[in-house]
Amino acid sequence: MEKSTGIKKVKAAVFISGTGSNLQNLLKFSKTKKFPISVDLIISNTKKAKGLKYADQFNVKKKIFNFKNIKIAEKNILILIKKEKIKFICLAGFMKILSKNFIKTFNGKIINVHPSLLPKYKGLQTHYRAIKNKDKFAGCTIHYVTKKLDSGKIIVQKKIKITLKDNPNSLAKKVLKLEHKLYPAAIMKIFS
Ligand code: GRF
Repeated sequence: MEKSTGIKKVKAAVFISGTGSNLQNLLKFSKTKKFPISVDLIISNTKKAKGLKYADQFNVKKKIFNFKNIKIAEKNILILIKKEKIKFICLAGFMKILSKNFIKTFNGKIINVHPSLLPKYKGLQTHYRAIKNKDKFAGCTIHYVTKKLDSGKIIVQKKIKITLKDNPNSLAKKVLKLEHKLYPAAIMKIFS
């Protein structure tokens, strides 16, 4: 419950592994009145994740879990999530695959951003593959997380043109901008 806004927000955790630009964006939205979730916890599988800096900037709790032993990591994450009363999970550049059991525990309450027009290009190197295949469009997808990788129900999806000048890097930058629009839109849609 976010007292300052007067509306009841769903307490959420964001899982990251890297730069955290989607996390930063969700934290910004989280502070606005009409956004239905409040990001109250940041979880990473590595202390090297640059996005962890946003925990201090936004005064949000962060915790790093070592995924060498995934069972122990997930058990401890579940304990923390319960303690913090987290009811919703956003994966944002989280590079670990969560177990079936973990996903089952949070059934229908974990979403992910994927940098392709799913069901095309599940997994990694999406931009490289799109350019190599001479696709006309790239894009991003926000989807529910299920036990099958990048295959859960699509919440929202948006496409952009791939130009002849594009390379995987330039395309990644363009798609990331799109992700920053689409991720909050997906959350609004879910809770509307
Ligand atoms: C994004 O492109 C996301 O789609 C992918 O990893 C990237 C994470 O970027 N899964 P950031 O850490 O949110 O900046």
